[in-house]
Amino acid sequence: MIRIMLFCIINYLCEMNILLLGSGGRESAFAWKISQSTHCEKLFIAPGNAGTSQYGININIKVTDFEAIKEIVLNNHIDLVLVGPEEPLVKGIHDFFLADGEIKNIPVIGPQQEGAQLEGSKDFSKQFMVRNGIPAAASKTFTKDTLEEGYEYLATIGLPIVLKADGLAAGKGVLICASVDEAKQELNEMLMEAKFGDASSSVVVEQFLQGIELSVFVMTDGTNYKILPEAKDYKRIGEGDTGLNTGGMGSVSPVPFADKAFMDKVEQKIIIPTVSGLKKENIPYKGFIFIGLMNCNGEPWVIEYNCRMGDPETESVMTRIESDFVDLLLGVAHVNLDQKELIISNKVAATVMMVAGGYPGEYLKNKIITGIENVRDSKVFHAGTYQDNEEIKTSGGRVLAVTSLQQDMFTALQQATADASRIYFDGMYFRRDIGFDLI
Ligand code: AMP
Ligand code: GLY
Repeated sequence: MIRIMLFCIINYLCEMNILLLGSGGRESAFAWKISQSTHCEKLFIAPGNAGTSQYGININIKVTDFEAIKEIVLNNHIDLVLVGPEEPLVKGIHDFFLADGEIKNIPVIGPQQEGAQLEGSKDFSKQFMVRNGIPAAASKTFTKDTLEEGYEYLATIGLPIVLKADGLAAGKGVLICASVDEAKQELNEMLMEAKFGDASSSVVVEQFLQGIELSVFVMTDGTNYKILPEAKDYKRIGEGDTGLNTGGMGSVSPVPFADKAFMDKVEQKIIIPTVSGLKKENIPYKGFIFIGLMNCNGEPWVIEYNCRMGDPETESVMTRIESDFVDLLLGVAHVNLDQKELIISNKVAATVMMVAGGYPGEYLKNKIITGIENVRDSKVFHAGTYQDNEEIKTSGGRVLAVTSLQQDMFTALQQATADASRIYFDGMYFRRDIGFDLI
């Protein structure tokens, strides 16, 4: 009898109300996964989209409106907050919680402002890599006052030349210049004409790394870490990796070249020095570290850190995680991630992103979406969608992520692509070649 009562009490204590911040495909995948957890009593998504309401309650507020978030947390007895996008982290949402007596004990998953600088400032992250011996491209940072030195440096690092706005620039702040003249002009526009606003008041000039990109995801409580499934992202709008850069047009996980030997190098040369470097430098970090890296002839080099999960990688990554995801989040919150179990499916997940006509430029909106019910063997994660009475309509550039989990890569890719073509909205577009380069 006592044992049963104890079991009930423990179970009761474990049931939590969770608040997820964000509104993209990444958050849809998080919401789907969290809603399956035995720890989750109620899930709230702020602001969410037409798809997240299948898994919880949407609340229409901005992810950067910290006071409104506090109100939601108090009114709904929230026990845990998961932050999806980088902006609230870089703006200090975690610090906001810690500084407020009413909410300071509610765990926030996502680093404090200082740790979020790994994404918020390219210069900070480069210096962190140098201090901690983490392999990265040679680089120097310049401002208005050092423009002339910048011009001189451009001539010394070989072609092409990579220019990176120091701050957040909505994914647009990286330029790859084919000639020194082009790089000079761009550097001038970034520093002197604020091409990316404040974000380009400092510019990192960096050597170009030749290789294949990989997204590696680490979950850490600041001491312990778990390596989540890796993924490959397809950034260009056009098939065959052509045309403009986007937020990401699809993803695949696992990635064949990320075999044990390669991932061992990633862990030894990048992940361990990153997590221990944060600890050594007294930078608290509870959340995700997304390492964008380049495989250069079998050696991993860091291109960038992000302080959050990737999109559309999360759609593929969550699909392959078999363990209770909230239990892992609790491990981050309570600094006992080492005691949690991460089980990863051996199957292959492929995600095809369906985007609005015109994206990544000016794009169509408010188009009715039909055919989601015809999808056969994929999950449809909503991104830029909203509910308009009985209809689901488009609101963003990236509209839906179609993810299929299958025994092998070919079947996963084929199924996700076939299922995407069962959905329709005016002007829609998706790449039919996601992942086929890996087969
Ligand atoms: P980021 O905004 O840092 O993700 O950079 C955008 C894209 O630019 C990356 O996904 C890479 O494709 C490319 N990139 C950034 N840095 C380098 C580099 N040092 N060498 C080659 N490509 C790079
Ligand atoms: N898919 C790349 C990113 O989330 O930044």
